[in-house]
Amino acid sequence: MSLKLRLLVTMVALVVITSLVLSAMHLNTVTETWLAHLDERSYTTAQTVKRWVLHRAGESFTHHEDNSAAAIRAGYRDAISSDDELPLVLAGMLSQTKSIVEISVADEHSTILASTNRARVGAHMPDRLTLQNLIDLGPVDRMLAILGGAIDYESRVDLGILGQRLPILRIQVLVSSVLLREAILPSIGSTALASAAAVLIAAALAFFVARISLQPIARLGAVIDDIASGHLLSPPHVSSASEFQVVEQKLRLLGEQFRGAREGATQLRGSMERRLAAINRLTGGVAHEIKNPLNSIALRLELLKNRILPEVPEAKEELAVISEEINRLDRVVRTFLDFTRPVEIETAEVDLGILVDETIGVLKPEAESSGIDVSWAKPKGSVLVRGDAGLLKQAVWNVCRNALEAMPGGGTLFVETLRQGADAVIRVSDTGPGVADEDREKVFQLYYSTKPQGSGIGLAMTFRAVQLHGGSIEIGSASAGGAAFSLRLPAA
Ligand SMILES: Nc1ncnc2c1ncn2[C@@H]1O[C@H](COP(=O)(O)OP(=O)(O)O)[C@@H](O)[C@H]1O
Ligand SMILES: [Mg+2]
Repeated sequence: MSLKLRLLVTMVALVVITSLVLSAMHLNTVTETWLAHLDERSYTTAQTVKRWVLHRAGESFTHHEDNSAAAIRAGYRDAISSDDELPLVLAGMLSQTKSIVEISVADEHSTILASTNRARVGAHMPDRLTLQNLIDLGPVDRMLAILGGAIDYESRVDLGILGQRLPILRIQVLVSSVLLREAILPSIGSTALASAAAVLIAAALAFFVARISLQPIARLGAVIDDIASGHLLSPPHVSSASEFQVVEQKLRLLGEQFRGAREGATQLRGSMERRLAAINRLTGGVAHEIKNPLNSIALRLELLKNRILPEVPEAKEELAVISEEINRLDRVVRTFLDFTRPVEIETAEVDLGILVDETIGVLKPEAESSGIDVSWAKPKGSVLVRGDAGLLKQAVWNVCRNALEAMPGGGTLFVETLRQGADAVIRVSDTGPGVADEDREKVFQLYYSTKPQGSGIGLAMTFRAVQLHGGSIEIGSASAGGAAFSLRLPAA
């Protein structure tokens, strides 16, 4: 998930949670207030009815002689049942409050004597849950009861006389849950609407904030790209936040330094190359100057030999030494010229498996005569590089030759060819004494040799050949204790 999306989701989730909690709290407060108001309203209505009934009944039988409870009850019952005005008064009260759906007056046995619902007169007045019961519920249960239930709630006032367990009259005011729900629903609707608007606005805001605050990161990316590609840095962006400006400034500074360093390095390399070329020309010239006189010296020496030897045979040994030294000088000059002359490598696709196989074929007879086992597993597939087959073969041959020379008393020569990532590797290892750590740099130097008859040319030549192919050589230790040379070339 992108950073932008994560920011967006987090901010919107926060707003959704906050508005849900706030909406719930708001609805709860609205409901509680409303229920309390309704409770008071219905109770007041019941009290008003009670006062009215007392007044009317009092009028009709105050002059009675019989003061027994039964007589009083009967008196009240008769007065209420026969009162024509009471239903009208009750209906009037009902019309004042929308939530109140029924007002009834019953006797002590809950038989309805008068009601706004005339059909119920004479019927039983059942007990209902009171509004106070609803108010006492928890917020969630209360809301569920209001939204789901289809029951009516009551407010009740009893009219009793001293010393009597049963009341004389019961006055019941009914509140409809349907009307209750209808009163609450608009509140829920408007709260939901406000919440949805808040979430929408928050999402839009979050989108813009995420966009704006992430822009500088894209800027920094562009600056880094400029630095990496060596282009001139584009002018700084002024509108980003100051924290990012500081980072961008530092990055630009770094970029300038990096550019300077790179230019310096390029110049240095250019001048190095020019100097090396000059040195090469010079030394090459000198070697040529030596080579030509050396040739004529060798020629003259042969002539001299023919002249002197018949007369002074004792001079043979000196002449032989001189001849030998001239030959050596000639070899030195020739290899020197080989190394300084710029080589043109002919590139073609070369299969290292085949190349190594041919080299091993040449060396095998000699190895066997020295008691050396050759372990070479030709690879199944092809291991391809682009390069100069002649140069590469020479390089492999030199390394193998050294390995054989390192095992005069016999041993095993291991050769393998493999692909390693983007490289093709030829690994040659032996069971000889190995190369000492301090010699690992030196062995590649021209003329460095630890052998009495060594020329010190082999590894220098190998190094140069591998380098010309953009590869490298590593010297390691073979598991058998000897040396392990790895020629690493870029695979084709
Ligand atoms: N397989 C090897 N084991 C031990 N030493 C080695 C091995 N290959 C090269 N060397 C060391 O590197 C030196 C340089 O090798 P090289 O350039 O081929 O010259 P040369 O073989 O004529 O001595 C060798 O004299 C030897 O000391
Ligand atoms: Mg050698």
